[in-house]
Amino acid sequence: NLVGDQGGETSAPRSLKREALPAELSIILPSFNEAENIPILIGLLDKALAGTAWEAIVVDDNSPDGTTEIARKLALSDPRVRVIRRIGRRGLSGACIEGILASSAPYVAVMDADLQHDETLLPKMLAEIRTGDIDLMVASRKVEGGTVGEGLSKVRAWGSNIANGLAQKLLNVTLSDPMSGFFMVRREKAEELAPKLSPQGFKILLDLVSSAAGTLKIKELPFTFRERQHGESKLDTLVTLDYFGLLLAKYFGDIVSVRFLMFGLVGASGLVVHLAALRVFLLSDMSFNMSQTAASFVAMTSNFFLNNQLTYRDRRLRGLGALIGLLTFYAVCSVGVLANVGVANLIYADPAYWWFAGAAGAIMGAVWNYAASSALTWRK
Ligand code: GDD
Ligand code: MN
Repeated sequence: NLVGDQGGETSAPRSLKREALPAELSIILPSFNEAENIPILIGLLDKALAGTAWEAIVVDDNSPDGTTEIARKLALSDPRVRVIRRIGRRGLSGACIEGILASSAPYVAVMDADLQHDETLLPKMLAEIRTGDIDLMVASRKVEGGTVGEGLSKVRAWGSNIANGLAQKLLNVTLSDPMSGFFMVRREKAEELAPKLSPQGFKILLDLVSSAAGTLKIKELPFTFRERQHGESKLDTLVTLDYFGLLLAKYFGDIVSVRFLMFGLVGASGLVVHLAALRVFLLSDMSFNMSQTAASFVAMTSNFFLNNQLTYRDRRLRGLGALIGLLTFYAVCSVGVLANVGVANLIYADPAYWWFAGAAGAIMGAVWNYAASSALTWRK
């Protein structure tokens, strides 16, 4: 009896090896440059999960260190190892989502592939979730008994506290460690929520919990974040910015997307760049019209590069593609100016409400720039 057997501690029929059973638990291992860590981790999982029908799904974003090849080699001798190789895409959250969607097991765990997460917690998490009373088990570094141990530097620990505090205040998330990348969830639930999740950044758990809007039964479990032995962390300033972007977007009830928000912030920075450049050109004795035009190009160029780094990180243009992108971005923004002035002109009736017409024009221009540049410059 295949189904009855996989949950319990009893061993599989002799004729059917444990590995041949359908997995009850899929462990999603997002990886970028973890070639040294993956084989060790699979060995540790094998030990920690003896008696459980599990599989590991390595979701690798085409790591230059050959993580995919290493994982595939393991898969040839161990059918519990599966590999998804993504090309042209980056993002921890997106990798986790794809891994979850590739699973058919009733339960999925998400875990770092770099040995910083304690795999011996998996059986405890599974036992809790199997009872049917819990939808999501979170391994937390902040709950009584858990610790960031040696895993986080002072600065990181401090930043992580601020990020948690904000998430708890802004989103009413009661998790003690909403940034944790170690959790187990009923696949059905995750699958339901998947269309709402953002693929960028590191915030999959927070995204999952806030998208569920209180419908998940959650339990936390303390754990100690281990120090990284091989390779390095990919959590950088951009990942942090992206996290704050998600907080703001969720706070405003998903009316505006994270992308549009980021685009707006970049646009606002463009205004500062524009004014600074205008000042410099004017000082160099250029006519006002020439200076204003030149300053516009400086601001558009700066906006293009910032959007390419931040807003469209996942569709980043490089080399010749970036040059063509820059030219289409100039074209899009020029039309944006026309849309801006046109709308302002249409609305402008009473000099007392000059600001209303001005703002309407600016918003129209921003919406146009956003829609057109996402369709033309950073098209999928
Ligand atoms: N596929 C894929 N694509 N995997 C990625 C990417 C990516 O773009 N970026 C990171 N990963 C993988 C890493 O290879 C590792 O297995 C895991 O995701 C965690 O990444 P690290 O770069 O090691 O993150 P960290 O240790 O600095 O951050 C940890 O703490 C954060 C909160 O402080 C992680 O547990 C995060 O999940 C957590 O949010
Ligand atoms: Mn790590």
